[in-house]
Amino acid sequence: MNEIVITGSTGVVGRRAVRALLHAGYRVTGVTRSARGREQLEGLGARAVEADVVDDASLRRAFDGADAVVNLLTHIPSVERMGDPSAWEENDRLRTQASAAIARAARAAGVRRLVQESIAFVYADGGDAWLEEDAPVAGGGVTTTALTAERNARERFDGDTVVLRFGLFLGPDSESSEAALEAARGGASVAVGPPGAYRPTIWLDDAVTAIVAALRVPAGTYNVADGDPPTNAEIDAALAAAVGVDTLRTRAAQDGPLARSQRVSSRRLREAGGWAPRMRAGTESWGRIAA
Ligand SMILES: NC(=O)c1ccc[n+]([C@@H]2O[C@H](COP(=O)([O-])OP(=O)(O)OC[C@H]3O[C@@H](n4cnc5c(N)ncnc54)[C@H](OP(=O)(O)O)[C@@H]3O)[C@@H](O)[C@H]2O)c1
Repeated sequence: MNEIVITGSTGVVGRRAVRALLHAGYRVTGVTRSARGREQLEGLGARAVEADVVDDASLRRAFDGADAVVNLLTHIPSVERMGDPSAWEENDRLRTQASAAIARAARAAGVRRLVQESIAFVYADGGDAWLEEDAPVAGGGVTTTALTAERNARERFDGDTVVLRFGLFLGPDSESSEAALEAARGGASVAVGPPGAYRPTIWLDDAVTAIVAALRVPAGTYNVADGDPPTNAEIDAALAAAVGVDTLRTRAAQDGPLARSQRVSSRRLREAGGWAPRMRAGTESWGRIAA
């Protein structure tokens, strides 16, 4: 496993993955649509290739010679637009049409491994129980198409598929992290679930070491979240402390995948790949993000 092609290579997690994979000794090619993306990739020391991510032939050319394809394509709307279903259309298209085209093209190009990004919010509410990868999924809302992307990667590709179900990305350039801090400065919580609900979160740099591990673990589905996922109440207490307020005002609990209690276990990736997050992002990251 030497030649890696990444779709979504210029995004928040993609550019970190490019850096980490180069550092680990892989040859990395990033797919991008723009001259700016090309410049960014070449600046990191990667190759850049242009491709239409819903066109099989275009992707087939981009994947030529690749041992593994890592699909990190998402188009998550800005925090202000998240409540508008139409703002998710592009993301849904990437998770449905692009994931299918990528799986087919990877197969046609003779790629051996496909790593597909997914999200830990797909699980049904588990209360206080730990959720391993075979726990029931419920999808719903914006997570339904993440399950479609998983299925496409498993069923339309004939090599080893690794699905990574990430917790909520936390980091200095994650828009939702900044929004949570901003709300906390105004004394408000952004949690949509009850205070006792568990929330899978992950520091962006730890998400990326999981992508590196995904190139050598057995095919399968892996959760990627804090080793001990915090509750909304713990996250709010850490946010309040980071911005110097006493407590945060909570909202009435809502419905939907982000309101469910998801005490996600990442034991499988820890055991198969020796992967472990370096920090408990949900409670330990806010001071660093604020700084
Ligand atoms: N688990 C999570 O919590 C999670 C997961 C994903 C994203 N997010 C958050 O959402 C925010 C936005 O992130 P993002 O990943 O959606 O955007 P992003 O970081 O801007 O990255 C999007 C990537 O996908 C590509 N892309 C986007 N739309 C495309 C399209 N229509 N056709 C082809 N390529 C396309 C871009 O490539 P080009 O070079 O061609 O532009 C870019 O590499 C960030 O704050 C991030 O932290 C969170």
